[in-house]
Amino acid sequence: MKQYNLDDRHIITLEEEKNIILQTHDLHVYYGKNEAIKGVDLAFEKNKITALIGPSGCGKSTYLRSLNRMNDEIANTKITGQIMYNGVDVNSKEVDVYEMRKRIGMVFQRPNPFSKSIYENITFALKRHGEKDKKKLDEIVETSLKQAALWDQVKDSLDKSAHALSGGQQQRLCIARAIAMKPDILLLDEPASALDPISTGTVEETLVNLKDQYSIVIVTHNMQQAARISDYTAFFYLGHAIEYDNTRKIFTRPKTQATEDYVSGHFG
Ligand SMILES: Nc1ncnc2c1ncn2[C@@H]1O[C@H](COP(=O)(O)OP(=O)(O)OP(=O)(O)O)[C@@H](O)[C@H]1O
Ligand SMILES: [Mg+2]
Repeated sequence: MKQYNLDDRHIITLEEEKNIILQTHDLHVYYGKNEAIKGVDLAFEKNKITALIGPSGCGKSTYLRSLNRMNDEIANTKITGQIMYNGVDVNSKEVDVYEMRKRIGMVFQRPNPFSKSIYENITFALKRHGEKDKKKLDEIVETSLKQAALWDQVKDSLDKSAHALSGGQQQRLCIARAIAMKPDILLLDEPASALDPISTGTVEETLVNLKDQYSIVIVTHNMQQAARISDYTAFFYLGHAIEYDNTRKIFTRPKTQATEDYVSGHFG
């Protein structure tokens, strides 16, 4: 395999007037002795879609999971550096993880609806957070399902089990469940990889429509998908962010050799 000079990098910092919602500084993530993320500095703009791309094992999921501390759930992980959200380091002691995850929601690769009805999938966490008003819950169910482009298909069967839905519908239900909490940021790890092209198209459309209200960071293996839906793209390689720029530039005029080779399909 070709060796790249990993110091050959190009990372935009977003100009000062840009509205940065989340930012990492010199972020390192370790699993035991294995350093999976080796000092990543990236800033994410509000109400934009940012795609994280790169070959398998380069640290995309690790980086994404660290942003709302999902890595806390994995034994032997260590994180150094900063993840700044609203002026606070996500890893600092005063952060209530449960509350923070309401603000920074996550959707995983495999649709993972609860073994409950469609309605209860969306209201479960809200009820746990103390929401009891039936009318309000009904409203949130309707708006979240509409935003996730699922309402028309399920409005007459909200009591049906979520597992009776198709894979693509289940994934949109998981997106609806995440946005019902009204997060600021939605993190998605390859949300369409288990779906057929038609469901993938619907999920992509859903995300593009959501960006007026949410800031989205999405990991994807699918470069066409990154090119279609994202405003910014970061190319990860061997635990480093090698190149970060406007998506159009990454796919038409990349500045580093590694990025150019990857986006033109030479490896990965
Ligand atoms: N739960 C874990 N425990 C230990 N090591 C892990 C764990 N998850 C990932 N790693 C290691 O961290 C490195 C980065 O993996 P990660 O899953 O973040 O890559 P990725 O870019 O998401 O890959 P893929 O495209 O295959 O999903 C790899 O060396 C992997 O073996
Ligand atoms: Mg991954």
